[in-house]
Amino acid sequence: MYTLTNGKGMTVKITNYGGIVTSIVVPDSAGNPGDVVLGFDSLSGYLQQGVPYFGALVGRYGNRIAKGSFKLDGKEYKLATNNGPNHLHGGIKGFDKVVWQAEEVNNGQEPGLKLTYQSKDGEEGYPGNLSVTVVYTLTQNSELKIDYTATTDKATPVNLTNHSYFNLAAGKAENALQHQITINADRYTVVDASLIPTGELRPVKGTPFDFTSTHSIGERIGQVEGGYDHNFVLSAAQGSSAPVVRVSEPTSGRVMEVYTDQPGVQFYSGNFLDGSLTGKGGKKYVKHYGFCLETQHFPDSPNQPKFPSTILKPGETYHTVTTYKFSVNGGSQQ
Ligand code: GLA
Repeated sequence: MYTLTNGKGMTVKITNYGGIVTSIVVPDSAGNPGDVVLGFDSLSGYLQQGVPYFGALVGRYGNRIAKGSFKLDGKEYKLATNNGPNHLHGGIKGFDKVVWQAEEVNNGQEPGLKLTYQSKDGEEGYPGNLSVTVVYTLTQNSELKIDYTATTDKATPVNLTNHSYFNLAAGKAENALQHQITINADRYTVVDASLIPTGELRPVKGTPFDFTSTHSIGERIGQVEGGYDHNFVLSAAQGSSAPVVRVSEPTSGRVMEVYTDQPGVQFYSGNFLDGSLTGKGGKKYVKHYGFCLETQHFPDSPNQPKFPSTILKPGETYHTVTTYKFSVNGGSQQ
């Protein structure tokens, strides 16, 4: 377990098991610290069956690949299927369940943790030896920055993300439905009953998926079968400096902004949490207790020729950066 602190009231804890962010403590608008992510007090919690990726690094491919199969350069590949007929979040033993090599990064006032993992050719069915490096950095601006790179020796799909579940009320609310959220996305990927994209990018306008203006998570969730678990197609141009998502929690005043260079974000409203997991401090993680904002390429891209490509080739470097920035309403916490 590694602890990053920035001297401005923010502390982040990360373990080399699954690269899991186990805790993010940030002050509320009155300056009271609170832990805003879901997780467990000890490693044994994370080793339980069916823990839904709390805080973890997800790979080799975040989200679903239909029937665990895809064709690449004329060859058909069969991946582990671990979600009904489909492949989810890298398979049975994804990057969330492996031990990463950890190295402290000394950036003066901006401490970091460098995690590396060598994924073997054939692991979970994927082609190629993939070398993955993820650097977590805690900045002086109260940002948790996640920098991902990967290289391969055979062409392979790659789509890395972090699966933190947030609740900015830090244990003081029944669930996360009161969070106010804005997503800079004018379309989303429509999915079938097994949550595989149909290929259609549908405008959010006039639907409960329109978060281009601010709404609470709960306001229209009843109109979305199963709750939100959708990939939003981010409108901002790559490299834009504006946040793609902004979330604020009314009672604590905490704010989180998400910045990314990725084309999509999976907004998941914790629909499968059912109270059976007891997390930090004895909290029961009931339905919608936390939400995820997984920056990513679109689900099932290897089978969707019209989606941006997720294939990494030998000689190329996969590189992406996502930042979660924390503050409070009505000013900065610094
Ligand atoms: C992702 C998926 C969800 C669910 C969670 C983990 O967000 O899109 O359907 O599988 O991970 O429970």
